[in-house]
Amino acid sequence: MLVLGIESSCDETGVALVDARGRAVPRLLSHFLHSQIDMHQAYGGVVPELASRDHIRRVLPLTHAVMREAQRALADVDVIAYTRGPGLAGALLVGAGVACSLAAALGKPVMGVHHLEGHLLSPFLSADPPEFPFVALLVSGGHTQLMRVDRVGSYALLGETIDDAAGEAFDKSAKLMGLPYPGGPHLSKLAEQGDGAAFKLPRPLLHSGNLDFSFAGLKTAVLTQAKKLGDELENRKADLAASTQAAIVDVLVKKSMSAMAQTGLKRLVVAGGVGANALLRSQLNAICKQRGIRVHYPELHLCTDNGAMIALAAGMRLQAGLEPLQRAYTFDVKPR
Ligand code: KG4
Ligand code: ZN
Repeated sequence: MLVLGIESSCDETGVALVDARGRAVPRLLSHFLHSQIDMHQAYGGVVPELASRDHIRRVLPLTHAVMREAQRALADVDVIAYTRGPGLAGALLVGAGVACSLAAALGKPVMGVHHLEGHLLSPFLSADPPEFPFVALLVSGGHTQLMRVDRVGSYALLGETIDDAAGEAFDKSAKLMGLPYPGGPHLSKLAEQGDGAAFKLPRPLLHSGNLDFSFAGLKTAVLTQAKKLGDELENRKADLAASTQAAIVDVLVKKSMSAMAQTGLKRLVVAGGVGANALLRSQLNAICKQRGIRVHYPELHLCTDNGAMIALAAGMRLQAGLEPLQRAYTFDVKPR
């Protein structure tokens, strides 16, 4: 069973083809991605209207590239999946519109996929795929959640951010330091040259006794610190970046370990853009090793948005018998 997946929720256009035969984890046959980062960089963030227009330009050429590389014809595709949400409404509409139009033209069923389910399942495409059940730490630009995952489609929320997401904390702090968009990878690169203990920054809700997060106060503390430094900021930027990263990672690691203790599970899955962060990975690897916990990540290039995770999630939902296949090509998107 061939599943085509289209991702267009934010600033990356991703298209992929997976083979979801039998009960084995779907196999990735081909995937292509176009990142709009260069286009949005001049504005310091994603400009929704420009994002939608660029998705329109890219999505069909990427689809053809995927089919060419997989040496398949569009007529061979059994199901066409797209990201239904969350994301930017206009950007989502491009992927949904193209998916439904292709499906209608080919007489194939369509499936709308939850973007976060794509992230959550993306480690199944890695060389070391997890087994159910597990705790998932989902850390993206818009979300920070801990979940108990018993099987495909069974997700129990254990805790989440009450304000900013971890990715947002990286991005907003980076912006305050004058780093380019998207801030996460830039801040993390700069932090390599700094001292993570140089500045004392808050770790909100660390001892709250629940599994919720809060990162809004961190951004304010970074701003206060930057103002205090004044002209000195330029010389101390790497230290401030390292301290910011240390605070975010510290909270993510400690809360993840609390979730492991609370559920008694011995498997942790990390997914979403912030899952690419090297300090987060090394700290989690170290503490999980100590505690006999297996930790799984998506491959680095599949941490941020991509079409492969959408095709994968659709394939896994189909295999689990969760999806009534639709041949009604009226589509809806769910930005929130
Ligand atoms: O999952 P994602 O691609 O998009 C959403 O669904 O939101 O995540 C993007 C987020 C951005 O906030 C970006 O700055 C962050 O992931 N990110 C990182 C790193 N790579 C991406 N944050 C910290 N360190 C990184 N290496
Ligand atoms: Zn995402």
